[in-house]
Amino acid sequence: MLKGRSLIDPMDFTIYELDEIFNLADQIIANPQEFSHLCDGKILATLFYEPSTRTRFSFEAAMLRLGGQVLGFSEPNSSSTAKGESIKDTIRTIACYADIAAMRHPKEGAPKIAALSTDMPVINAGDGGHQHPTQTLTDLLTIRSVKGSLSNLTIGACGDLKFGRTVHSLIKAMSRYENVKFVLISPKELKTPDYIKKEVLKKNNIEFVEVEKMEDVIGSLDILYMTRVQKERFFNEDEYIRLKDSYILNEDKISLAKEDMMILHPLPRVNEISYEVDDDPRAYYFKQAKYGMYARMALIAKLLGVI
Ligand code: CP
Repeated sequence: MLKGRSLIDPMDFTIYELDEIFNLADQIIANPQEFSHLCDGKILATLFYEPSTRTRFSFEAAMLRLGGQVLGFSEPNSSSTAKGESIKDTIRTIACYADIAAMRHPKEGAPKIAALSTDMPVINAGDGGHQHPTQTLTDLLTIRSVKGSLSNLTIGACGDLKFGRTVHSLIKAMSRYENVKFVLISPKELKTPDYIKKEVLKKNNIEFVEVEKMEDVIGSLDILYMTRVQKERFFNEDEYIRLKDSYILNEDKISLAKEDMMILHPLPRVNEISYEVDDDPRAYYFKQAKYGMYARMALIAKLLGVI
């Protein structure tokens, strides 16, 4: 039963609950009109303390396409946060006006504090370099729709695996499916955090390797999940400049890949995928962004208990 619950971490829902969400998303994709009044009279609040294009717009589009309404802020200085109001007081106030909230915050754990402060469902829309569970719903729905299954996959994650919260959430979520292997491609400065390797990969006996060179492994991958070097998490700008173009996926490199390898990216991209790759049939990142709206439509409907 998902009604009334929050989504803070990708492991908050069982794989059966995730299937409920994905099955509903499939139905919405097949017949969106049938669901266009599901959330009539309901309000989604979007509380974005950090910049966003896809997550905020797809949440808002999701609620509007379900017949509901949206309110919120994309600039925290326009809210009473600027006067020193706590997250706890903000969310308790928002719960007086809205039925469900999506929160993005630069501090790890902020959406969890919000969820613990209210009975209203709260969705983590990305907290610092920690987790991004609705990006993971997006990623899993995209993979399931294209590959037909979430099992028996070799997934290459490439780029900033240290600060890239989408990869942390993806590894956690995929660790529960059968015969999934990870190839972690990053410079040594941006390696996957130890807690993910120890508490997720090793604990669940998930096969993984860490490498620095993409060309050596791209031919073995079913999915290549590219990520941006997360400028906003660096303390030292020189270090960011040195590392930002560590990987640039181009036609030469994808000529080494399988014919059916999926290229995913949570976006935004900076330089890590050349524009020439966009026309390759293996490039799914803009379709992925669209799946994100359907995944969020299904999530909102399930958490509100309207279906
Ligand atoms: N994928 C993602 O979180 O994109 P935005 O930062 O644009 O929301």
